[in-house]
Amino acid sequence: MKNLKNTILQGDALSVLKTLPNDFVDLGITSPPYNKKEKQKGWLVKNVLYHASSDKLPEADYQKQQIEVLNELYRITKTGGSFFYNHKIRWEKGELLHPFLWLNKTNWAIKQEIIWDRMIAANIRGWRFWQVEERIYWLYKPINNNKIGEELKSKHALLTSIWRFSPERDNPHPAPFPIKLPTRIIYSILDKKTHKTIIDPYAGSGTTLVASKLLNHNFIGIEIAEPYIDYANKRLHNAEDERLKIDKEINLHKVNKTFKERKAEGKFVGKFKKNVEKKIISKQNNLF
Ligand SMILES: C[S@@+](CC[C@H](N)C(=O)[O-])C[C@H]1O[C@@H](n2cnc3c(N)ncnc32)[C@H](O)[C@@H]1O
Repeated sequence: MKNLKNTILQGDALSVLKTLPNDFVDLGITSPPYNKKEKQKGWLVKNVLYHASSDKLPEADYQKQQIEVLNELYRITKTGGSFFYNHKIRWEKGELLHPFLWLNKTNWAIKQEIIWDRMIAANIRGWRFWQVEERIYWLYKPINNNKIGEELKSKHALLTSIWRFSPERDNPHPAPFPIKLPTRIIYSILDKKTHKTIIDPYAGSGTTLVASKLLNHNFIGIEIAEPYIDYANKRLHNAEDERLKIDKEINLHKVNKTFKERKAEGKFVGKFKKNVEKKIISKQNNLF
């Protein structure tokens, strides 16, 4: 098998994943196609149309495919590894389709549901309140059936289960996420000192891969559309141009003191306090 490190493999995610070995990935991050079947009417932002895939499967087939993809990702991930899966609640003919419907049928333990407050909604029609949020599921591959896993390191003390930042606007791909998203995850989950392997099976414009590279990790991308691979490779080549964005994101929630030290000082312990949120907002205002 050819060297898998720091490459983007072209093809269908499920077919390519099936060719990869067991237990070699440390972390995964992705946003799959959402199977939204959007029509023009009522949409505030431009429709998401991918170059090489239709995003219009019958819903049952879509969910089955996502379960298979997620189980392949589970197989290739080391025990103790994590996968972050960005998706959203959708409706079909008034029927709510929650990602939990299929996530719960995979092998992964669902460690947390994170709300991504994008502060903007796509649909201007008034069937329900403005949907400004998407979800990010932290999935975990347990060691010896222990679904709790390890305690987080101190550097996450300012992060809550609601992540508030806007969608990406400065990218020609039809549905990229901002580099803040994978940066926050990689910085929070992986130790900076060792080179780990990060996968994105729907790599698109390569946002996860660029963040991985800048944070000194190895990456593997899978993507079906050649133009997006070309664009992602250009981004990877010029990755240093995005260094500032990464540094800004890390500075937002960097905490040097351990939980123990902060506890001894009576700071940031117990339930999440309003002043922590204020601190993040004031940091954001100073930096952006
Ligand atoms: C939501 S986008 C990912 C965007 C990416 N996170 C970024 O920041 O650019 C989903 C991507 O999946 C790709 N895709 C669609 N079907 C696929 C399949 N069966 N296998 C692999 N990639 C696929 C699309 O071409 C698209 O680039």
